[in-house]
Amino acid sequence: MAVVPASVDSIRRAAEILRRGGLVAFPTETVYGLGADALAPAACARIFEVKRRPRFDPLIVHVGDVAALDAVCDFRDARAQRLAAAFWPGPLTLVVPKTAALHDIVTSGLPTVAVRVPEHPVARALLAESRTPIAAPSANPFGYISPTLAIHVERQLGSAVELVLDGGACTLGVESTIVDVSGEHATLLRPGALATERIEALIGELRRPEHSATPRAPGQLPSHYAPRTPLFVVEPGGFDVRAGERAGLLAFAEPDGALAARCAVVEVLSRARDPNEAAVNLFAALHRLDGALLDVIYAERVPSAGLGAAIHDRLERAAAARKS
Ligand code: TXA
Ligand code: MG
Repeated sequence: MAVVPASVDSIRRAAEILRRGGLVAFPTETVYGLGADALAPAACARIFEVKRRPRFDPLIVHVGDVAALDAVCDFRDARAQRLAAAFWPGPLTLVVPKTAALHDIVTSGLPTVAVRVPEHPVARALLAESRTPIAAPSANPFGYISPTLAIHVERQLGSAVELVLDGGACTLGVESTIVDVSGEHATLLRPGALATERIEALIGELRRPEHSATPRAPGQLPSHYAPRTPLFVVEPGGFDVRAGERAGLLAFAEPDGALAARCAVVEVLSRARDPNEAAVNLFAALHRLDGALLDVIYAERVPSAGLGAAIHDRLERAAAARKS
C-alpha cells in the first residue's frame, strides 16, 4: 500500500485505480472510506474481503451531486429532496429505493441503497475525477474502530489497499447520520455527525428502530467500533481502578486528578466540554488507548446533546463487544 498526500496528481492516480476496479482509501469529513467503483461488482466484492465484512452489511454509495444519483437510486421522495437540499454536501446518508442497474452486492440484496454527497474536498475531487459513484464503507476491519487519519488505515488494512490518499485528520470524526426515507416513516438508523435535532426540525420526528436480533442496518449490531482492549462505559468519576490493573481513561472533559493519577493513560476528548470537539477526537483517542497495552479502558459517559448522542452510541457499541 502507498500512503500519499492528496494532490491533483495523486487524486488522478486514485481515480484511475478506481476505474480499473481497484480499491482506494480516501478522507471524508466524517471518517476515511475504503472506496471502489460502485458500478463494478467485482471491485465492491473486494471491499467485503479486505474489511472481512459480512456480505449482509450493505455499502454506502458516494456521489458528487444529486444529479449523479440517477444511476443508483430513485431519489424522488420529498423528504429526501428536502434533506439533501439542506445538508448536502455533508455528513448525512439517506436510504432510498435502489435502481435495477445497481448490483445487489452493494446493497446486500436489499431493495434500498444508502447514498451520500460528502463535503471533504479530496472526496469531492476524487468523485469528479473518477466520474463514477464510489461505494465506500469506513476503512477499518469489520467491527473495529473507524479511521480518522491515513495512518489508521495503513495500520489496519495493510497491503490490501492500492492507495491511501492522505488528507489529514477528518474534521468531524464520527460517521454520517443515516436516515431511512424509503418507507412511510422516516427512521433514524444511525446517529452521527449531523445532529438528529437538525433533521427533525426539517421533516418531523424520526422513528427509532426497535432493537431486534436481526438488525436492518448492521451498523445497528450491538457490537461495533470496538477496540481489542475491554472497554466499559462509566459515569464520570463513578468507577475505580483495581489494584494492579493497567487502566486507560477516556474522559470527556478534564478528569478528577486523583482518579486520573491511578490510570496509566488518560485521553481527554474536550477540555472545553464541546461535543463537536469530542467527536473529532474520539476515534483517534480510542486507537491510541487500544495501542497502549492496557488491561481495560474506562470511557466516561458524555452529555447527549448534539453530537454527544453519536459519541454515546459509538461508546455503547464499543463496550458491547465484551457482552456478546
Ligand atoms: O460517514 C460515513 O458514513 C462513512 C464515510 C466513509 O462516508 N461511511 C460509513 O460506512 O460509515 P459504513 O459502511 O461503515 O457504515 C454504513 C452503514 C452500515 O451500518 C450499513 O449497514 C448501513 O450503513 N447501510 C448501508 N446500506 C443500507 C441500506 N440499504 N439500508 C440500511 N442500512 C444500510
Ligand atoms: Mg463502519
